[in-house]
Amino acid sequence: MFQCEEKSKRRLLLFALVSSGLFPTLSSSAKTKSKNPYDERRLLEQNRRIQKDNNAPEDFPNFVREGFQVKVVASDSYVTRDSGLIYRDFEVGQGDCPKDGQQVTFHYIGYNESGRRIDSTYIQGSPAKIRMGTKALVPGFEEGIRDMRPGGKRRIIIPPELGPPVGPSTFFSSKQFEVFDVELLGIQECQRRTIVGFYSDVVCN
Ligand SMILES: *[C@@H]1O[C@H](CO)[C@@H](O)[C@H](O)[C@H]1NC(C)=O
Repeated sequence: MFQCEEKSKRRLLLFALVSSGLFPTLSSSAKTKSKNPYDERRLLEQNRRIQKDNNAPEDFPNFVREGFQVKVVASDSYVTRDSGLIYRDFEVGQGDCPKDGQQVTFHYIGYNESGRRIDSTYIQGSPAKIRMGTKALVPGFEEGIRDMRPGGKRRIIIPPELGPPVGPSTFFSSKQFEVFDVELLGIQECQRRTIVGFYSDVVCN
């Protein structure tokens, strides 16, 4: 499980530095002092109803917003990293984790905070393919699949600071968490090949 994490540690540190500023994000547990526990419980229940209406999957996390602060309420099956990334493994999978330069093939379902499906490669009919370490994914997504193994199934909760960049004009609008159910299908080696001397591309198989 942990041999894959060496490389991501350095990145985690980077993310932690980036995310320790400006916008405090409170995750799961103790840190939050809720002003009013009744309000929180009420919000939690309200969220659960909305999630149910949206057909959110089982054990979906709950995002309780108070002003600009968000408290993530998730079951004990979730792990919170120092970077702020939260995940839960449904299947660990087998084999090696993907390395930079390799291509990963995966299916995913993306949800917003209300548990509404907003995107799915299952519905699109073909899995996503990206090369690791090429910044093709938002940082949290890449971090989330970096230590997965083929056959693995994981739910990744990406906090706003590991999500897509947000411009200055939207800085104070409420930044959202994103949730993805990811199924890592396979890992392919990639090679750069040169065609007729002046054009080159990358082939993965
Ligand atoms: C999730 O998506 C639905 C449908 O687009 C929308 O009504 C809802 O407000 C969204 N929730 C959040 C938290 O953005």
